[in-house]
Amino acid sequence: MTRLNTMDISDISNRINIYDRELKKTLGYTLEEIAKKSVRAFYSDSIYKEYKVAVIPVTSGMGIINGFCETVSDILKHIRANVFVTEKTDVGGIQEAFEKNADIIFMSDDDTCAAFSLNGKVYSDNGYVTGVAFAAALEIMMEKEGEEVLILGAGPVGIAAAQYFSQIGAIPVICDLQEDKARDVASKIKNAKVEKSLKNLNKYTYILDASTSGDFIKEEDIKETTIISAPGIPLGAAKEIRDKVFIFHNPLEIGIMTMYFDCLNQLMEGKQNEY
Ligand SMILES: NC(=O)c1ccc[n+]([C@@H]2O[C@H](COP(=O)([O-])OP(=O)(O)OC[C@H]3O[C@@H](n4cnc5c(N)ncnc54)[C@H](O)[C@@H]3O)[C@@H](O)[C@H]2O)c1
Repeated sequence: MTRLNTMDISDISNRINIYDRELKKTLGYTLEEIAKKSVRAFYSDSIYKEYKVAVIPVTSGMGIINGFCETVSDILKHIRANVFVTEKTDVGGIQEAFEKNADIIFMSDDDTCAAFSLNGKVYSDNGYVTGVAFAAALEIMMEKEGEEVLILGAGPVGIAAAQYFSQIGAIPVICDLQEDKARDVASKIKNAKVEKSLKNLNKYTYILDASTSGDFIKEEDIKETTIISAPGIPLGAAKEIRDKVFIFHNPLEIGIMTMYFDCLNQLMEGKQNEY
């Protein structure tokens, strides 16, 4: 996982309304609708106000990314969640969230971004839900069932996406710089295949970029119909192709929203995820 920096998130709060309107126009779905689709959250928004969310700043490791907690809170406010950022950090923040009756807490350090419930066995992992949410966005754009989808990167995000595609009857084709890793992941997922070479990208119409490399998908790797769903940071699509193909990419928004719905599902159904 790549650590975000202040620049990656600086305009999310200001742009989220515009971004969402653009998505509705191009995809027919808002971020909230994609997030709910990805984790099969079928309830109406009247339920949101019943659950209070606290975002807790964490100072360990390299410390707090400037504006991170406020941005997470703004993303959740955008979908009308009942959310606040704790004044205290770390353990003090957990205590404050508990005292203020938060149902769900969001916390992040250098390696992990997760949400938990303070009153039940509820947990959502950002890597997992990001994989399924970007897969759901790509599914919206797929023309028919049973299509091949190239997944670049066999880390937690790529694995979750591959599982999602397998479950909807698509064929996940996994490609990683470490071929062994791709082979190992593919062997555990129904219908999954391995793509050995990054030179074959233009064979695929649908690409899910869950890699950590930037600017490596070039002109010769795409065709007119290529569609890229890209959780990966930095963006794998090189600058020269960004206006030529449809790219669904955001560094935080859909992942945070999907964690929220993943937690609500578990709180309402009393069911824990199998990660
Ligand atoms: N957009 C979001 O909301 C969001 C949320 C979580 C993670 N992410 C990002 O998603 C990406 C994947 O996360 P992760 O935790 O699975 O990462 P990871 O580091 O565990 O796995 C990434 C994998 O990509 C492979 N890889 C790197 N460059 C490649 C290339 N050019 N072609 C093929 N494979 C390549 C690596 O070998 C590695 O196995 C990271 O960039 C992470 O920061 C984004």
